[in-house]
Amino acid sequence: MTRKILVTSALPYANGSIHLGHLVEYIQTDIWVRFQKMQENLIHYVCADDTHGTPIMLRAEKEKVTPEALIEKVHKEHLSDFVDFNIEFDNYYSTNSEENRELSESIYNSLKSNGKISIRTIEQFYDPVKSMFLPDRFIKGECPKCHAKDQYGDSCEVCGATYNPTELINPFSAVSGATPIRKDTEHFFFKLSECSEFLRFWTRSGTLQPEAANKMSEWLGDADENKLSDWDISRDAPYFGFQIPDAPGKFFYVWLDAPIGYMASFKNLAKRHSLNFDEYWGKGSATELYHFIGKDILYFHALFWPATLEFSGYRTPTKIFAHGFLTVNGEKMSKSRGTFITARSYLEHVKNPEYLRYYYAAKLNGSMEDIDLNLEDFVARVNSDLVGKYINIASRTAGFLTKYFEGKILGIDLNDQVYKATRSSLTSSGDIASCYESRDYAKALREIMKVTDYVNEYVNDMAPWVLAKDPDQHHSGSKLHAVCSDALKAFRILTIYLSPVLPEISRKVSVLFGESGSYLWSSLMESPNRISNYSHLITRIDPKLIESMVEANKESLTNSPNTKIENQPSVANPISELINIDDFMKVDLRVAKILSAEHVEGAEKLLKLVLDIGEPNTRQVFAGIKSSYDPESLVDRLTVMVANLAPRKMKFGLSEGMVLAASDESGGPYILSPDAGALPGMRIK
Ligand code: 2FM
Ligand code: ZN
Repeated sequence: MTRKILVTSALPYANGSIHLGHLVEYIQTDIWVRFQKMQENLIHYVCADDTHGTPIMLRAEKEKVTPEALIEKVHKEHLSDFVDFNIEFDNYYSTNSEENRELSESIYNSLKSNGKISIRTIEQFYDPVKSMFLPDRFIKGECPKCHAKDQYGDSCEVCGATYNPTELINPFSAVSGATPIRKDTEHFFFKLSECSEFLRFWTRSGTLQPEAANKMSEWLGDADENKLSDWDISRDAPYFGFQIPDAPGKFFYVWLDAPIGYMASFKNLAKRHSLNFDEYWGKGSATELYHFIGKDILYFHALFWPATLEFSGYRTPTKIFAHGFLTVNGEKMSKSRGTFITARSYLEHVKNPEYLRYYYAAKLNGSMEDIDLNLEDFVARVNSDLVGKYINIASRTAGFLTKYFEGKILGIDLNDQVYKATRSSLTSSGDIASCYESRDYAKALREIMKVTDYVNEYVNDMAPWVLAKDPDQHHSGSKLHAVCSDALKAFRILTIYLSPVLPEISRKVSVLFGESGSYLWSSLMESPNRISNYSHLITRIDPKLIESMVEANKESLTNSPNTKIENQPSVANPISELINIDDFMKVDLRVAKILSAEHVEGAEKLLKLVLDIGEPNTRQVFAGIKSSYDPESLVDRLTVMVANLAPRKMKFGLSEGMVLAASDESGGPYILSPDAGALPGMRIK
C-alpha cells in the first residue's frame, strides 16, 4: 500500500553559508526521500530558511542592509547550494512568510485559549548603548564559579558551570562592549511545566531513537517530579521576527516560529499542488511525519515542538530522526585548519557532489553517533569503491557491446546458469531496501559493494578483453556478447541500488540504457535491450583538489563574512594568558578510574563519581556531565582528574577534585580518556 509521508530537515539559519556539517543532514534526508520515491510512496520533503532572531538582525545592520534583503540573498545562496548537491526539496521556503505568520499567531492563540500561556516580569540584561535586551549568548564576563574571564552568559567553558547571566562578574555586552544594566521586562511563557505527563508518554512511545529517549527521560525525570520549566517564548523589540498578537513591542522567540516553518513551507506547497493541509497536520492525521535533525536540537524537537502541537490542536510527529555531528579528520571543523568547508567551496574544488553523498552515506547508520570525514579516506574510498569497482564494471564491458553488437543487450533468462552476475545482484534487493528504510545506509552500501565485488570477480574470470581478441566471438549470441550483457545488466541493477545516493549518475546510466528517466525499485525487474555509446561517467578524485580546497578555506578565514559559526556572536574565545611551567606543575593531574557513577537527587547537571586514583581511599567528585553520559556507561572507564583542587562543600556533599571535560557551544561535555596502558594514579604532565 502506498504510504503518505511528509519529511523535513532542520531549517538552516539565514545568517551563514551551508557547510559540510549541514550537508550531513540534507544528504541523509534526501537519500531517504529518494528511496521512498523509488518505492512509489507519496512523499513530500519541505524545508526553509530560519530567518528570525537577534544574530540575523545584527548581521543585517552590520552589512547596512535590511534583514529582509539579507535573508533574500542568503535564501538564493542556500537554494543553489542545495540544488547543486542534488538535494531535491519539494519546497524550500522561508520562515519570514505570511503562512508562517498566520500559523504562528493561530498556534499561539490556541495555546493561550487552552490556558498554556502565562506572562511574568523577569529581570534581564539590557545594553544601554544599543538600547536592546541582550540574549544570554551576547553577554560575556567572568565566571562566578572559577573566575575564568570572557565566558558566555549561560555557561562557563572552563569549569562547565551553568548560571544565569545576572550572576556573571563584570559582565559586558558582546554587541557594544558596554556594561549591561538590569532591567525588568514582561515575558510570555509557554507552560511546558504542565506538559510533563503528555511528554513522558510521547517520548516513550517509539517516536525517538533509544539514545534520544534516554536523554529525554533524564530531562523529564520521574512521574513524581516535574523537572520542566516554562518556556520563555517572547523577545523584546528591537527583534527581527513576528510581533505577538495584542502585545506591541513583544516578538515570538525565533525557536517558537522556526518549527512552525515546517508547516508553513508545507502549506505553501499544498496551495500550489492542491494538497489538503489537514490531511497532513490535522489531529489524528494518518500521514507519516518525520523530522530529520541534529542531536543538538533534540530538546526543541522532542519537547517544545510536540507539546506546542499537542496543545494547539495539531497532530504530533511520527518520529524524530537525530544524527550526530560531523568531524573532519577526527576533529571539530576548524577555520584555522581549513576544515570548516562551505558547500560552495567543495563544489568549486572537488566539483562532483555525489562523491560526498557517497562518502556520507557510507558513514551514516541511523544512530546519533558522530561521523568523521577523513579527507584521505574520502579520496581513497571514492576512488577505489565508486570508480575502481562500480564504474569499472561498465567501463570494462560497455565498449564491446557497442563495438561488436550494435549496443544490443542479450535477453536474460534468470534460470540460465550463464547469467550469474545478474541473478546474484538481484538476491540482495530486499536486504538493501530495508537498510535504506532504517537509515542504515552504511550497511546498504556494504551490501551493494559485496555484490559489486562479486560482479567484478565475474568480469575478471570471464575476461571479455581476452575473448574479444578472437574474431569468432564477434557474432551476436557469442560468449563475449553474453558476458558483457550479463555484466551490464548487473551494473544497471547496482545503479538502481545506488540511485538514492547517486541520483545524477543514476540518471546518466538510465540514459545510457535508453530508459532516460528516474529508476524505481520496481525497475529492477525490467530488462533493457540496448546500450548507447559509453563515455566515462565519473573520474577519480585527484588528492590535490582536496589540498587546494583546504588551503582555500584557510585563506578565506580572515575576510569571509560567512565563517562565523551560526548564531554565535563574533567575540572570539581567546586562549588564556600565558603561564610558565611552574604554574602548570601546580596542577596535579591524575589518571582516575571511575568506580561508580550515579545521578544526584535534585541536581540537574551533576553526576556523583567515585574515583580510584591509586590512593588507599577513593575520591568523591560531583561532575557536571549528566547531559552527556548515562552513568552506567562510565563505570570502569579511565579518565583524568585534578587531584589537588581544594575540596569543595556542595549542597549534595563534598567534591574532592575535578574531572576534566571538553565542551563548547556545539556540544559536550566530553570527558577525557587516557590511552591504553595508563593506570589509576599515574601523574599527567
Ligand atoms: O539549529 C539550527 O540551525 C536551527 N536553525 C534549526 C531550526 S529547525 C526547526 F525547528 F525550524
Ligand atoms: Zn567557570
